[in-house]
Amino acid sequence: MSEVEVSGLFPVPFMRVSDLIDGDVVDALKQRFESGATETNVKTDLLSHSTVLNPDASDSFSGLSDIIRPHLVEFGGLLFGEELDWLIKEMWINRLEPGGFQTVHSHANSFISGVIYLTRSHPSARTTFYRGMGGREFAFANEHKGVRMGPFNAPKWAVPETGPGDMVLFPSFMLHEVPKNEGAVRMTVAFNAIPKRLKSWDYELNFG
Ligand SMILES: [Fe+2]
Repeated sequence: MSEVEVSGLFPVPFMRVSDLIDGDVVDALKQRFESGATETNVKTDLLSHSTVLNPDASDSFSGLSDIIRPHLVEFGGLLFGEELDWLIKEMWINRLEPGGFQTVHSHANSFISGVIYLTRSHPSARTTFYRGMGGREFAFANEHKGVRMGPFNAPKWAVPETGPGDMVLFPSFMLHEVPKNEGAVRMTVAFNAIPKRLKSWDYELNFG
């Protein structure tokens, strides 16, 4: 009898941490944003951001980086095979009004990006990841009602329901968006993290 085994080659890690922060911290972050400086998104005025802050230098986020860091070390271990020293270099709050959206993007100059949800996300406005957006080659697809979508052929994937206090981590190169929000106001904290160094045998790249 022959045996059949299918493996995922070169998979991309995605981490979800439930209840990273409790309700009091969620409320405090939401309040800080209401009273803090805001900037409107360049593509839509239904999305606004807090000013980008260094989390270690900001009262608003004090303590948050310490809670996040162990998860960065674990996730970074999957990406780089080593327990590295991780630095959250920037952190900001997003507020998405009903009807608002965030266009497809990735985060430059960063290795791990994360989102902490401060409100429930309406099913229409779940963070959605894309496999790719094409290059300069012709592309072929087999997408119709009869197709079974799975990890090997799906062009995109939406994060299942998240609640206030939940966090997700993903490699910063991953393309993602928030589709049009057909629910209530949606608030998140976003951040970018870098390791203090990467090493290629005797050569070290230092960041931060
Ligand atoms: Fe993003």
